Amino acid sequence: MTVPRHVAIIMDGNGRWARERGLARIAGHEQGAESVRMVTEACVEMGVKFLTVYAFSTENWKRPAAEVAALWVLLEHFIAQETPTLMKNNVRLQTIGRLHELPESCQQALAETVAKTAGNTATTLVLALNYSGRTELVDAVRELGAEVAAGRLAVTAINAEEIAAHLYTRTMPDPDLLIRTSGEMRLSNFLLWQLSYTEIVVTEKLWPDFGKDDLRAAVAEFNKRQRRFGGL
Ligand code: FPP
Repeated sequence: MTVPRHVAIIMDGNGRWARERGLARIAGHEQGAESVRMVTEACVEMGVKFLTVYAFSTENWKRPAAEVAALWVLLEHFIAQETPTLMKNNVRLQTIGRLHELPESCQQALAETVAKTAGNTATTLVLALNYSGRTELVDAVRELGAEVAAGRLAVTAINAEEIAAHLYTRTMPDPDLLIRTSGEMRLSNFLLWQLSYTEIVVTEKLWPDFGKDDLRAAVAEFNKRQRRFGGL
């Protein structure tokens, strides 16, 4: 069996999971955080080197302020609670997205755990926070433009490698496998550049119901695919 080096996940269906149970939406997010914990553990067990989860998109600010605020509180709790486990399981935490727009306390908690886990080598858990593929490309183009304007970069030197080297994901391989839960068939502005040749598995399961066996099933499905990267 081929183990994907990088698995990316669009975690969808937290709200529906809560609604089906007559619970507040945040209860779905709380159970969703539990799924993040289980799936991270499964990645360590299987030898997946990078796991990127879409935790908050730049469009999620449009949600009611109470839900947005509750998500940041949940994230802070998650970081505080999980850091010892990340250390025990040799997991490195990283983030992608415009972090400077997050609440100050969240930024600080994230920075501390990112620094603390920086030397861990089993799996890198990447939280996409205030992330979208388009803003990532905007930020990369701004950086490239500034380098050209400063005379440090020739326009003709801009190629695919140079663009990739200016994305938030510059130190990571592109995802091999993208999983989306809750049956939706959309990319929702996630890793637009990086998903060019990624195999996509969509499952009907809602994210809070997604566990280790579901990850293993998605990897088994990935193993049935023939990746040609545009060749024959
Ligand atoms: C999508 O479900 C989920 C989100 C926008 C938030 C994801 C957050 C978590 C899984 C919990 C926090 C994460 C960490 C890393 C601690 P939805 O709310 O769009 O569900 P719906 O489509 O059923 O309404």
